Amino acid sequence: MRPAALRGALLGCLCLALLCLGGADRRLRDRHEWKKLILVQHWPETVCEEVQKDCRDPPNYWTIHGLWPDSSENCNGSWKFNLKEIQDLLPEMKEYWPDLIHLFPNRSSFWNHEWRKHGTCAAQVDALNSQRKYFGRTLELYRELDLNSVLLKLGIKPSVNYYQVADFKDALARVYRVIPKIHCLPPSQDEEVQTIGQIELCLTKQDQKLRNCTEPGQEPPHKKEVCEDGPVFYPPPKKAKH
Ligand SMILES: *[C@@H]1O[C@H](CO)[C@@H](O)[C@H](O)[C@H]1NC(C)=O
Ligand SMILES: *[C@@H]1O[C@H](CO)[C@@H](O)[C@H](O)[C@H]1NC(C)=O
Ligand SMILES: *[C@@H]1O[C@H](CO)[C@@H](O)[C@H](O)[C@H]1NC(C)=O
Repeated sequence: MRPAALRGALLGCLCLALLCLGGADRRLRDRHEWKKLILVQHWPETVCEEVQKDCRDPPNYWTIHGLWPDSSENCNGSWKFNLKEIQDLLPEMKEYWPDLIHLFPNRSSFWNHEWRKHGTCAAQVDALNSQRKYFGRTLELYRELDLNSVLLKLGIKPSVNYYQVADFKDALARVYRVIPKIHCLPPSQDEEVQTIGQIELCLTKQDQKLRNCTEPGQEPPHKKEVCEDGPVFYPPPKKAKH
C-alpha cells in the first residue's frame, strides 16, 4: 500500500471507531439508561448567595434539591406532575424540599420541575415508579441519612471561621462509609474562599443503598464546581429562622 493509501485506511478505521462509539453513546442516551441515584442536598444560605437573590428566611438546615439518576433526564414528557398524588407529603415537602429562591411562580412548580426532569427517569425502578413513591422515598432517604444531625454531631456548624474541605469529606466518609461529592461556589468579590453549596450522596439504583459517588478504580472527575482542597466557608444564615 502506498503511504497515502495507508494513511487513508487508518483514518477510515479511526472514523469508523469514533462513529461506532458515538452511536453506542447515543443509543444509551435514547434508552435513558442510568446506573446510580444521587441524593442532592443544598445549603440554603449558599443557594441564596449564588442567585444573588434575597431569600426570605432561608432555613438553617440542609434541604433537598432532588433525587437524580446520574445520567438521564426528561424520560417521559407525557407523565405530568400531579400535586394531588402527594397531598399527604406536603407538610414535609414544604419543610424539607422548599423552593428556596422562589425561582418558580409557586412552590409546586419546583417539584413539577424535579419530577419531569429527574423523577420520570427514576421511575424505571419499582421503588420509585409513581410520584407518591418518588417524593416519598426521597423524603425517607433524607430522614434516614440525616445529614443535618451528622454534621452537628461531628461539630461541623455554620461558622464565620473557615473549615477545610477535608473536614467535610472525612466526616462524611467516616459516618456514611462512602465517597460523597461536595460542590462549592468559587471565591468571589464578597468571599475570598470557596463556599460550600451542595452535598451529594450516591445510592444504588435498585435498593437505594449508599454507594461511592466514584466508580471503582476511578478518580472523581475534576469539575469546576467540585470543591478544591483547602479552606471553605460554611456560611451561617444571615437571617436565621429562629
Ligand atoms: C409515560 O408516562 C405515561 C403516563 O404515566 C405512561 O402511560 C407511559 O407508559 C409512559 N411511557 C413510557 C415510555 O414509560
Ligand atoms: C403552580 O404552578 C403550576 C404550574 O407549574 C400550576 O399548574 C398551578 O396551578 C400553580 N398553583 C398555584 C396555587 O398557583
Ligand atoms: C469506596 O471507595 C473506597 C475508597 O476508595 C474504597 O475503599 C471502597 O472499597 C469503595 N467501595 C465500594 C463499594 O466500591
